[in-house]
Amino acid sequence: MAFPESFLQELKLRNDITELVSSYITLKRRGRNMVGLCPFHGEKTPSFNIYTENGSFYCFGCGVGGDVITFVMKMENLDYVDAVKFLAQRAGMDMPEDSYDDSMSRLRTRIYEANREAARYYYKILNSPDGKSGLDYFHGRMLTDRTIRHFGLGFADDDWSSLCDYLIGKGFSKNELVAANLAVRQRNGKGVYDRFRNRVMFPIIDLRGNVIAFGGRIMTDEKPKYLNTSDTPVFKKSDNLFSLNNAKNTGSRTLILCEGYMDVIAVNQAGFQNAVATLGTALTKEQAMLIKRYADEVVICYDSDEAGQKATARAIPILRSAGLLIRILTLPSGKDPDEFIKSKGADGPEAFRALIEKSGNDVEYRLQKLRSNYNLNTPDGRVRFLEEAAKVIAAIYSPIEREVYISKLCKEFEISKDSFQRQVNSITRRKNREDRRNEVRKIQNDLSGRGDRLDTEHVKKPRSSSAEEALIAYLIKNPDSVGYINERLEPERFQNELMKRYYSYFSDRISQGLDPLNNLTADFSEDERSRVYKILSKHSTIAETRSALDEYIKTINEESRKLNKKDLSNMTAEEIQEYLNSGM
Ligand code: GTP
Ligand code: MN
Repeated sequence: MAFPESFLQELKLRNDITELVSSYITLKRRGRNMVGLCPFHGEKTPSFNIYTENGSFYCFGCGVGGDVITFVMKMENLDYVDAVKFLAQRAGMDMPEDSYDDSMSRLRTRIYEANREAARYYYKILNSPDGKSGLDYFHGRMLTDRTIRHFGLGFADDDWSSLCDYLIGKGFSKNELVAANLAVRQRNGKGVYDRFRNRVMFPIIDLRGNVIAFGGRIMTDEKPKYLNTSDTPVFKKSDNLFSLNNAKNTGSRTLILCEGYMDVIAVNQAGFQNAVATLGTALTKEQAMLIKRYADEVVICYDSDEAGQKATARAIPILRSAGLLIRILTLPSGKDPDEFIKSKGADGPEAFRALIEKSGNDVEYRLQKLRSNYNLNTPDGRVRFLEEAAKVIAAIYSPIEREVYISKLCKEFEISKDSFQRQVNSITRRKNREDRRNEVRKIQNDLSGRGDRLDTEHVKKPRSSSAEEALIAYLIKNPDSVGYINERLEPERFQNELMKRYYSYFSDRISQGLDPLNNLTADFSEDERSRVYKILSKHSTIAETRSALDEYIKTINEESRKLNKKDLSNMTAEEIQEYLNSGM
């Protein structure tokens, strides 16, 4: 990656991290730093820290950290080059010319282009004689031409290579088509063939209007019914939602969450643009966080069959921990939204609107389910129902909402509000304590290095690893100390392989007169990058004196000697001689 250092420096200077982050989340001051609720995972206690002094962030809850560029990459779902472009634009800076042509970024651009061409091609075929069966299929499912155009639906014909031939004719290479998952390599490794054949096609479009993937439906009862693009450099199924590009523009802070493509499209055609669907998998945490950015409330609109009800039950806690309000729409038995709307003919839109309005929130839904588990005609059944109901109500965030349900149940069961309220309060308090304790425990665990997969050596050698980390933090924050440190400490002294790598890397960069942190994205994996910011974060409040530094150096040298002594028994005579000569 070849952005000039000076450009990156200015980019970071002109994009203040606090200002940037506060355009996404609410920050509060804590000491010298700012903290907030992490936008990358659901939490109740803020563990997302901003360090203004070095323009970085780190979340102790989920272990993600970085600089403004990393933040934009994660938040806007952009690759490195696009994140840099985003920030340059935000700060009114011109991009340096020809500097951003690294191969991964170029491949991504080509995949976007290939996907766009493919979508155009599928659309064109659908509206040609070769696509008659596809168009008939869509018309048979009551889609209007306007809807077909709006979603850019298409048709992949029953041929092994028509898309490949077309795209290769447009200058795309076989490798690019395989990387886009539009084509599959033949067994002999030489040729390629179309991945989607004889299917009606649904393009999946991201928030910036790029075609990132496709879903293709077979028109018969064959399996698989739906075939999706596998994960590619521009597409991760578990991070995207079908039609969010449409839904985010409606101005409504409510999203309708459906199970499938056809449901979203039917709901759209009935006049509700704010519908999205997962792409043939169960809802993920990432998708819930994505929804939270565009909505406060979700209406779950899954099929009324058993699978749909199970999926609803699984989705509720995920949406809840993302901080979303939830309502559940109940369809007549055996129907999905598409079939329901169709079954009502011209009244479909109105009937669907009525269902949305009638949809209860998930508390009602869960209370309803609970009721059916107990015999409410017996005192025992009533007591046990109320105990369980108290748990459901205690899980509600909003005190007003809790109050509403408490009043309702007390009236219905003719019990005193006081005692029921006390019951709910004690559960809420216990639950809050537990949640907080768990969040804190997770952070402590994380800081102790237990269960650390990136740095497995820390727990085994805590003393040396801690000193090594502290030294690296010192070095990054005090680059002018590089000469002093290098004279007193060789990389070989480091016990921890990851820290050794960091030490050599940062020493080198600083010695070359470069900003230590400017090129992390190109030189380290995502986890290794986050770890650098974690180390900085851990040491952000520790006094940085020369004597502290001397202490780190001393400890590292000491620990390294200890280890050598221990290993003496395994050394060859030559090695022992060398060891003695080294004067340790
Ligand atoms: P239609 O039968 O066209 O009305 O589809 P549907 O949306 O009603 O589909 P269904 O309820 O069977 O499945 C819901 C969603 O699950 C679909 O939209 C797909 O995203 C996904 N899905 C269904 N079948 C398959 C399959 O065979 N493979 C994959 N990958 N996904 C599937
Ligand atoms: Mn259906």
